[in-house]
Amino acid sequence: TNTQNVSMFHYWTYFAKGIGYTLLITAIAVVIGIILGTLFAMGRLSKRTFIHYPAVWYIEFVRGTPLMIQVMFVYFGVGMLWNNIPAFFAGVVAVALNSAAYVAEIIRGGIDSVPTGQVEAARSLGMSHRDAMQTVVLPQAVKIIWPSLGNEFISLIKESSIVSIIGVTDLIYQLRAVQAATYRGVAPIAVAMIIYFIITFTLSRILNRAERKMQHD
Ligand code: ARG
Repeated sequence: TNTQNVSMFHYWTYFAKGIGYTLLITAIAVVIGIILGTLFAMGRLSKRTFIHYPAVWYIEFVRGTPLMIQVMFVYFGVGMLWNNIPAFFAGVVAVALNSAAYVAEIIRGGIDSVPTGQVEAARSLGMSHRDAMQTVVLPQAVKIIWPSLGNEFISLIKESSIVSIIGVTDLIYQLRAVQAATYRGVAPIAVAMIIYFIITFTLSRILNRAERKMQHD
């Protein structure tokens, strides 16, 4: 049989399964990341030192270490306490905890981008700090934050590929399976690469359109 010419199309279910896992991990991680990231951003903006400093340390530590080692740490570290921890679960947790730190900085950046004079003006009109934040700062901040959260989602589609090292059956893992089954080294890599590009390019187009719509109102 001619193993050199096995069509990649015969293995479409492998790639499809991989895409499914990649998108699922990314989607779950980004939702958890946004929730936790909002809390960490609030923590970092807090004036209470026992809230402020742990938030700062978390954000800096997570952003200062590779996602790869975080994935390994969650899988093998938590695995010491919980035998047979599913790789998928560990992968999602690690990517979500990682994303939370990046999201926290996105949110902090958005809030910081609103000039302090606006809060002062609102306060001088008799608004409470809370009201000033909710009605003046946040509506402006979200216009900065939304597009960056979109970019974070796109980043995670690519960055989540690292979970393949603990055996999560994502797109990278599947491309290796196709390599093993077909003895073809490059073709499966090229196929996975193109799939990644189609997904991220399409998403960024959609997000750009949504963003342009938002700037109009
Ligand atoms: N690859 C880099 C790392 O391992 C960046 C991770 C990016 N994470 C993110 N949530 N945007 O640290």
